[in-house]
Amino acid sequence: MKIAIDGPSGAGKSTFAKLLAKKLSLVYVDTGALYRSIGLYVKRKGADPKNEAEVLPLLNGVKLELKYSDMGQRVILNGEDVSDLIRTSEISMYASDVSKLSGVRSFLLEIQKDMAKRGSVVMDGRDIGTVIMPDADIKFFMVATPEIRAKRRFKELCEKGIECSYDDILADMIQRDKNDRERDIAPAVPAEDAIHFDNSDMNIEETLDAMIKIIDGIKK
Ligand code: DC
Repeated sequence: MKIAIDGPSGAGKSTFAKLLAKKLSLVYVDTGALYRSIGLYVKRKGADPKNEAEVLPLLNGVKLELKYSDMGQRVILNGEDVSDLIRTSEISMYASDVSKLSGVRSFLLEIQKDMAKRGSVVMDGRDIGTVIMPDADIKFFMVATPEIRAKRRFKELCEKGIECSYDDILADMIQRDKNDRERDIAPAVPAEDAIHFDNSDMNIEETLDAMIKIIDGIKK
């Protein structure tokens, strides 16, 4: 079983990919972590993430691996586990900027295609249904209104004790969605055969139940 979950930031892709992985014994692959790791590397090197001429030569110094443990997926950048470091809003924007560059996308293609071939997976990202797993059994394009997505992210950060502003989160989200949706290569748009799944008015249980019903319907 191969499940693709695409959609804008904060729509709940990773939450539901993790829950489905657990329920259906699939490996969860978070592809955004790969773009985030490149973003972190570019930031550490002091390069401009929008400038292809600065970013592409840096890729020669990048070795990325995905590892799986009780803690879920870990992403290893040149031997260092950066899984937690890549979760900041600054790195989100770096990731979105480097993800526009064709050289970065082709650099990350093989590792993602490799994971897709391994068998039973649920992958989340922006181009999983269109580029990475066009043969997925089920493709969800998960959406919710920007205000609801920002509210959820705000609550999540507050619960973690991280100081933040709802208005900043909403503005960042709108900017990143536009960046991801309007880029030339592999834009974050639904595959033709994707199921448009709007969970704006649904809680976690309702969303998971609805997804499982859709999956069961397709398996029959
Ligand atoms: O899913 P995420 O928020 O961790 O992704 C970070 C950025 O990486 C996102 O803004 C766009 C990019 N990305 C992408 O272009 N293609 C993917 N399959 C996954 C992420």
